Amino acid sequence: MFLIFAVCSIPNSTQKKNTLAIIGADINEAKRILVKGDLVAIPTETVYGLAGNGLNQSSLQEIFKVKNRPTFNPLILHVGKMDQVTELVQDIPSPLLRLMEHFWPGPLTVLLRKSDRVPDLVTAGSDRVAIRMPNHPLSLQLLRSLDFPLAAPSANPFTYISPTLPEHVDKMLGDQIGYILDGGACSAGLESTIVGMEQGKVKIFRYGALSVEEIQSIINGAILLPKETDSIQGPGQLKLHYAPHTPTLLFERDTLSIEDFENKHIGIINFAEAYPGRTQWEQRILSRSGNLKEAAAQLYQIMHEMDQMDLDLILIERLPDTELGKTMNDRLERASSK
Ligand code: TXA
Ligand code: MG
Repeated sequence: MFLIFAVCSIPNSTQKKNTLAIIGADINEAKRILVKGDLVAIPTETVYGLAGNGLNQSSLQEIFKVKNRPTFNPLILHVGKMDQVTELVQDIPSPLLRLMEHFWPGPLTVLLRKSDRVPDLVTAGSDRVAIRMPNHPLSLQLLRSLDFPLAAPSANPFTYISPTLPEHVDKMLGDQIGYILDGGACSAGLESTIVGMEQGKVKIFRYGALSVEEIQSIINGAILLPKETDSIQGPGQLKLHYAPHTPTLLFERDTLSIEDFENKHIGIINFAEAYPGRTQWEQRILSRSGNLKEAAAQLYQIMHEMDQMDLDLILIERLPDTELGKTMNDRLERASSK
């Protein structure tokens, strides 16, 4: 019913009519749907988000329902302007303010003590709310035109790979949402880095598209890193997460024993060069020049592609454990934890 309505009401040559959701770049249409309390998929520089009014109870419930996500897993609020943050939080510790001023708009999410305006459903009952200002021209313009923040988890079903193209969202959730705001391919391709304070120090709670090194360059003194022992309910800490349906294995070239896979239909995602002597395998390379940013922008796209190939197994090469390699290894360890 909704789909028919949406198809009929948006005659616009820039929009592609798809079998599932409408994919288009009409900010006014996105705004109209959001103001009504319904959901829109929005582009960000990290991954596509499934967005709804972050202060509206029924929009929030719809997000959890569409994603099939348990309500103990809190949501990030997205804002378009710094002064929107003030009414959502009680205070901003100065090291976090410095990071926000330096990296916003950008792939940085901050955990701050929430004000009463933020519904408990957003924070899963925690007294801290996660906030970020994404760096994508369409979504920034959309956010700046709204008088409420957008709650937006990644626009994928719970535990699956995050989307970095509108087509990914359409395939996964298109039958449940009316509109996907088309901002093209996500330039960073990994979720935001989540930071907060712990024992007076800046702590990274989730590795992300902003590297530890970049954050450290702004902060004097030691920063704390996520620990294996952090609560599984912590940011991005669920063991099985970011996972394709196809069994996935993280491998290192030195230790991989190929014989185990002799008769299998294998896909292999390499960092900078093809795996030697295996031309019968589906092979992809993340960055021929060994550039970690380029690899990050490619990773989820290639994982989505390979997951459609009816493979027995996807092998993904462990990345160098520095800068965005750390984030990718974190995601790949979770993706291969089945
Ligand atoms: O790049 C991103 O951050 C994307 C785009 C769409 O902005 N969003 C995203 O949202 O990755 P989501 O929901 O897929 O992951 C957010 C993570 C979750 O693991 C959640 O547990 C954590 O952030 N989180 C959100 N609010 C929190 C809070 N108040 N306290 C602790 N963790 C929180
Ligand atoms: Mg997610």
